Amino acid sequence: TRAAAVIPAAGRGVRLGPGAPKALRALGGTPMLIHAVRALAASRAVSLVVVVAPPDGAAEVRSLLDAHALPERTDFLVVPGGESRQESVKLGLDALPDGHDIVLVHDAARPLVPVDTVDAVIEAVRDGAPAVVPALPLADTVKEVEPAAVPGAPEPVVATPVRARLRAVQTPQGFDRETLVRAHRTVTDEVTDDAGMVEKLGLGVVVVPGHEEAFKVTRPLDLVLAEAVLARRRL
Ligand code: CTP
Ligand code: MG
Repeated sequence: TRAAAVIPAAGRGVRLGPGAPKALRALGGTPMLIHAVRALAASRAVSLVVVVAPPDGAAEVRSLLDAHALPERTDFLVVPGGESRQESVKLGLDALPDGHDIVLVHDAARPLVPVDTVDAVIEAVRDGAPAVVPALPLADTVKEVEPAAVPGAPEPVVATPVRARLRAVQTPQGFDRETLVRAHRTVTDEVTDDAGMVEKLGLGVVVVPGHEEAFKVTRPLDLVLAEAVLARRRL
């Protein structure tokens, strides 16, 4: 069983602040996207990586891939992305050639995911789960609120889910290819992760242990943490 990885990298990174598209920002002097591509290509099972580039940045991403050392046994494709993450993933799936029965979807914004996490997700799909999500228990208690119309106004609490039953989900999420393609073809509701679409098909989604270093670079402080993790690895 061969696996392909789709890496959505088409977002602008509004929460990170002004500058280049988030995936193209440097981390330890190398674009975040290159770190993410290397992290997935480091898995022996991954024989193809499809990068979903910013809509007007496909040529730039192609030359970045050509300029950085990447495993020879892995093929790389670049396609332009869309307006939403969901649309970008769909465009990546549309570009997949035959011959890969497992598909991973991995955020370019999670550049430091360890290869062991990637392999654990692939293993769980091989063991028969149609959708596999790496995730961690939460440090913070979570409240459901009635969102305020005015930002910053007090928000009434609706519920407090039992924290021990909650998991914060990461990527790469792994799928039986047919299942993920069908989910993207049939589910039209907006979701924030791919496994959520498979849940809507009524199929079993399982969680496996994620990793602290698979955190998503979202806000400026995350970039500080990512630089520190990278510096520690290089010691
Ligand atoms: N993404 C994408 N296409 C989009 C939006 C997001 O491929 N239209 C990708 C991002 O590039 C990122 C991943 O989805 O790798 C996770 O999204 P997020 O962290 O929200 O990144 P951005 O959308 O770029 O950030 P923001 O929401 O702050 O603008
Ligand atoms: Mg976003």
